[in-house]
Amino acid sequence: MRKIVIAGNWKMYKTQAESEEFLQGFLPHLQETPEEREVLLCPPFTNLSVLSRNLHGSRVQLGAQNVHWEEYGAYTGEISAPMLIEIGVRFVIVGHSERRQYFGETDATVNLRLRTAQRFGLTPILCVGETKEQRDNKETESLISLQLDKGLVDIDQDNLVIAYEPIWAIGTGDTCEAVEANRIIGLIRSQLNNPNVSIQYGGSVKPNNIDEIMAQPEIDGVLVGGASLEAESFARIVNYKS
Ligand code: G3H
Repeated sequence: MRKIVIAGNWKMYKTQAESEEFLQGFLPHLQETPEEREVLLCPPFTNLSVLSRNLHGSRVQLGAQNVHWEEYGAYTGEISAPMLIEIGVRFVIVGHSERRQYFGETDATVNLRLRTAQRFGLTPILCVGETKEQRDNKETESLISLQLDKGLVDIDQDNLVIAYEPIWAIGTGDTCEAVEANRIIGLIRSQLNNPNVSIQYGGSVKPNNIDEIMAQPEIDGVLVGGASLEAESFARIVNYKS
């Protein structure tokens, strides 16, 4: 049985005070949310503790936006899995295209991070997806297949979420057609050995397109950037109509 996972990735937005303000507006809406939908927030590291305290007893899970592959060590600026676990984090985004594009993330380092996340009991959300140029050159399928091949070496598919995020659709308002996202996600699924892995779509998901996206049979949730920053809009996404 595949789980529905709806995640807000706040990227480098929101102070602690702004996070608390968000929750005041957001949490009351969860009363309308069907129980089987998993809801998570992935704030900047500095907000994890305050969210963890405020979410105690709520159904919202906490995710981080990255994790280092070593348990500890001289890695200035990095965060380890035990540090995340200690404050109640359960999920971690790995290999987001912004990490790949701006911070030298490769399929090999993605794989190391995935392994460590799983070793410490975190559920990783592996992000894959193509650039506009790769799509135009008809390289989408081969690129994603390679990202999966290299990223998933020795990874336990029983504790894994995948997010298909076409890079050209991220933050642009240029959403991938729901039917096309469904097709690519179907291809991703055909490359996995566990048919129950939840696969999300990400890229300009908004209140006005969420119902159509979630109506697609292969799509098990969404990874939302911009529209997760505002309580009302993320609440509408979480409470999509099925
Ligand atoms: O992690 C989220 C994605 O990068 C999507 O961002 O919803 O702002 O396009 P967006």
